[in-house]
Amino acid sequence: MHDKRAEEADHLVNYVYNVIKSNEDGAVNVRAVAQHFCANTIRNMIFSKRFFGKGTENGGPGVEEEEHLHGVFNILSCLYNFCISDYFPFLRRRIDLDGNEKRTRQAFETVRKYHDPEIDMRIKQWKEGTRIEKDDILDVLITLKDDKGNTLLTSEEIKAQILEMVIATIDNPSNAIEWALGEMINQPETLIRAVQELDLVVGKNRLVQESDMNNLNYIKACLKESFRLHPMVAFNLPHESICDTMVSGYFIPKGSHILLSRPGLGRNSRIWNEPLRFNPERHLKNDGSHVILNDQELHLLSFSIGRRSCPAVNLGSTVSIMLLARLLQGFTWSPPPNTTCIKLVEASDGMVLSEPLRAIARARLDERLYASLSS
Ligand code: HEM
Repeated sequence: MHDKRAEEADHLVNYVYNVIKSNEDGAVNVRAVAQHFCANTIRNMIFSKRFFGKGTENGGPGVEEEEHLHGVFNILSCLYNFCISDYFPFLRRRIDLDGNEKRTRQAFETVRKYHDPEIDMRIKQWKEGTRIEKDDILDVLITLKDDKGNTLLTSEEIKAQILEMVIATIDNPSNAIEWALGEMINQPETLIRAVQELDLVVGKNRLVQESDMNNLNYIKACLKESFRLHPMVAFNLPHESICDTMVSGYFIPKGSHILLSRPGLGRNSRIWNEPLRFNPERHLKNDGSHVILNDQELHLLSFSIGRRSCPAVNLGSTVSIMLLARLLQGFTWSPPPNTTCIKLVEASDGMVLSEPLRAIARARLDERLYASLSS
C-alpha cells in the first residue's frame, strides 16, 4: 500500500499550499488538515479512493468526507460514554435509558452509509469474476480463505473490520500532530531542531519519504512526547481481568472492568522529570539508537502492550511521522496574527485541544516542488 500512502502525502502538501495561497493571512486549520490526511490515507488503502465524493477544487474534502469524518468522531465519543446497560446487560435492547444505544447506532449509520455500498459492490465483483487483482485492504479481506479454501470472512465481518480500521487510523495520529505542532510553535527551538534534521536527512530538493523515517529521530521524539503528554482520550479501551490478581499491592478481582489511565502513566512524576513540560529530548538516547513511538515498559501509553495491544504500530507510526514531517518540511509555522503563542488548553470534556489549532504557514521549499504536486 506504500504508493497509496505516498500519493496522499503529496496531496497533503499540495492542499496546505493551496489553502495558504487562498487565505490572505496564510492561516491553516491544522486539526482539519490532519484529520483529513489520516482519513484520506486509510480510505485510499481500503477502498482505493481517497474521497467518496468529488472533494473541493483546491484538493480538500467535500461534504461527503466531512460527514464521514464527523460520523467517525461521533462513534469515538460514544465509545467512552457511560452506558448503564454495560453494567446491567438485561436492559440492553429493552429500554435505552441513557440514549447511548440510539446515539451509537446513528453514528454507525452515518459512516456505514459510505462504506457498505462500496463493500457490497466489491464482494459482487469478486463473485462475478469481474475483479481478479488484489489492489487494497478490501480486496485482501474479501479473498481471505480458511484451511479448506472457503471464504473466511462474512460481509458483516468485513464491514466491522473496515469500520474499526478507519476509526483507528484517524483519531490518534491527528490528535498527536495537532498537539505536537502547537507545542513546537510555542517552543521555536524545537521547531528549528526538527527542520534542521529534515534538511540534513532529506534536503530541500525533494519531499520526505517513508524510507527517510528511520533517520528522523528528533521528529519521532516530538511525536512520542505528544503521545506521552497529550493522549487523545484519558483511558485505554476497556479491558476485563480474566483472573484474580495483585498489581502494586492492590487486589484486582476476576471480572473487574479495567481502565488504564493514559495521563496517569504519561504524566507520572515518579517516572518522568517535569512531566508537564513538552521536552522531546527526553526520548533521545545517548547511543543514537532509533526512537520508536511504542513504549514496551508502559511508561507511557501510545500503542499499549500485550496481546490486546494495537496491531498496527507500524502503520500508525508511519502515518503519524509522515504527517508531521511533511508539515514541517513543507512549511514554516508561526502563531496567528496578533498572538505571540498558541493557547494550549485541553477541552473541558476531554483531552483534545479546546479549540482546533490555527497557525500561519509559509511555504519554505522551491515553488517548483509544490507545482509538481498539482500536475
Ligand atoms: C498512532 C496511531 C495509533 C495509536 C496511538 C493506536 C493506539 C492503540 C491503543 C492504545 C489500543 C488499545 C490497546 C489496548 O487495549 O491495550 C489500540 C487498539 C487497536 N488498534 Fe490502534 N492505534 C493506532 C493506529 C491504528 C491503526 C492505523 C489501526 C488499523 C488500521 C489500528 C487498529 C487497532 C485495533 C484493531 C485495535 C484493537 C486491538 C484489540 O482489541 O485486540 N490502530 N490502538
